Amino acid sequence: MSGETRDRTKGDGPGQGADPVMQAILQRASIRRYEPRRLEPEKLEALLAAALRAPTTAMGHFYSMIVVSDPALKAQLYEVCDRQRAMQGSEFVVFCVDIRRTDAWARHLGVRRLLSGYTALLFGTIDMALAAQNLVIAAAGMGLGTCYIGKIGHKAAEICRLLSLPAGVLPVVGLTIGYPAESPQPRTRIPLRFMVHRDRYRDMTPDDIDEALLALAGCEGGDPAELRSRAAEAASFFAGIIEGSWWQPGERSLRKALVSQGMAPDGAAAPRAGEAGEEGEGRR
Ligand SMILES: Cc1cc2nc3c(=O)[nH]c(=O)nc-3n(C[C@H](O)[C@H](O)[C@H](O)COP(=O)(O)O)c2cc1C
Repeated sequence: MSGETRDRTKGDGPGQGADPVMQAILQRASIRRYEPRRLEPEKLEALLAAALRAPTTAMGHFYSMIVVSDPALKAQLYEVCDRQRAMQGSEFVVFCVDIRRTDAWARHLGVRRLLSGYTALLFGTIDMALAAQNLVIAAAGMGLGTCYIGKIGHKAAEICRLLSLPAGVLPVVGLTIGYPAESPQPRTRIPLRFMVHRDRYRDMTPDDIDEALLALAGCEGGDPAELRSRAAEAASFFAGIIEGSWWQPGERSLRKALVSQGMAPDGAAAPRAGEAGEEGEGRR
């Protein structure tokens, strides 16, 4: 592994010191096992308030957070999300792109709502992701664990139905929050020098890719046979991600939800909040 990556994950690089925010960022790892105890409501409230403090495009607040606490609903989400262990014993928040609020405000203020299409999706996704990650870091700082659940966006049509989401609201990602029952080491990352470009974009060479794969496999020397096998494992993992067809059903579900929620960027026949048929397929 490169020195750069090692320093980053251990938090002992220049300027990282004992800064608590830096420590929370550097030590965080996704948590998939939780103690079976509820998070105190005031802690959850504090975390949601931390999410809200994230920057938001033009003060637009183009997102919503849906806290799921009904046990029956949680059980259904657990099934839809392929029974992921991280969803057991944890709190669950669904992060949504939300342009419905903007519609309502536009009507209230007597102005036209022009935000739509790709821009709405871009603004909403950025806002939502910043809020979610604020919550993740705040939770890490409080000694709590979190794990994103991507199936929420990957089964967007099913989630819209389950949560009765109205037009203008699109579920993108879920987040589990709770008391960790495991303490995994931070996972390695592609070394910083391959992720940062200076003034001009530079493609990785085949040698760079091999070097990055070694770094991702955590290879720092030792038995060459073991190194080769770990590097091969990393290569096959990434090949699987890159050529995987697992996202195709997700793509279909997402497209369906974009239409049902009136948020299809190419203007596919889709109702908008405040118009006839505003509730879309997502609403029961
Ligand atoms: C949008 C998004 C969706 C994710 N979905 C899942 C998921 O469904 N299940 C899961 O176990 N981890 C999920 N993860 C967590 C990633 O697997 C994890 O962040 C990655 O392996 C890096 O590990 P780390 O978070 O411990 O650093 C997701 C992460 C992101 C950003």
